[in-house]
Amino acid sequence: MKNIAYYNGKTAPIEEMMIPMNDRACYFGDGVYDATIALNHVPMAFQDHIDRIYRSAGLAEIPLTMPKEEMKDILQGLVNEVDGDELMLYWQVTRGVGMRGHAYDSVESGPSLWAFVKPGALKDPYKFYSCITMEDKRFYYCNIKTLNLLPSVMAAQHAAAAGCYETIFHRGDRVTECSHSNVHILRNGTLYTAPCDELILPGITRAHILAICGRIGIPVVEEPFTLDQLMTADEVFLSSSTAPTSRVNRIDGRDVGCKDEKAFSAIREAYREEMRREAGLA
Ligand code: PDD
Repeated sequence: MKNIAYYNGKTAPIEEMMIPMNDRACYFGDGVYDATIALNHVPMAFQDHIDRIYRSAGLAEIPLTMPKEEMKDILQGLVNEVDGDELMLYWQVTRGVGMRGHAYDSVESGPSLWAFVKPGALKDPYKFYSCITMEDKRFYYCNIKTLNLLPSVMAAQHAAAAGCYETIFHRGDRVTECSHSNVHILRNGTLYTAPCDELILPGITRAHILAICGRIGIPVVEEPFTLDQLMTADEVFLSSSTAPTSRVNRIDGRDVGCKDEKAFSAIREAYREEMRREAGLA
């Protein structure tokens, strides 16, 4: 198949899937999601993504009682249906279905599981990417991978309109993350990345990059860094499941980074190797 969608046990091509209007995703974005790439039909870091959606659901007070193994089996079954060596697997759990009402007691069902699988290539890790910066106007639930993404989609659109790949958010002077990625810098051979608090999403790719740094001897500092440190870093790069190591060479029209190729490429190559092994390709 070219793609597949799933909603509470029903499957169909994405273009044909019908969803009840009273699913609370439609009115409130009342749900949480996760996404990863499947290489060779193996979803990357699958258990980490499963664990995170259960954590997100818990923080959002969504009573997700489906066993993790059952969710994994459903999602793997969908991945197996779609043709292609590189696929995107997206899934979300919403609070359920019920007449519109802000409080949860109008929910008449258990949580809904939605998913789709479609072709989705990893972003080229050997290219350079441009970014813009923007004040981070999101709320204080950025650690929950919630469907409420209005500031993120607006920021992503502003980046696209400027011919850029991403928007790097900052709260005042403090750099947080991007509209759909985490951001890291290298300075004097050390990797700096924002700490996991309510201002950033704890990226799965970020966690794997930190583990790789530990293995290859790059010290890591998980502390807030500033816009000035970003602009004067030796390297700036972004991470997400669909674009694990994206090297940044321009921010707001100014040249940045690209001064520690050795450390950056060591991380990039170790990450690529890890994925190839996980996918059974090496
Ligand atoms: N985005 N920060 C934000 C705000 C994100 O939306 C994402 C992921 C990340 C990186 O997380 P991870 O390494 O676990 O993919 C950080 C996904 C890809 C999306 O929204 O499609």
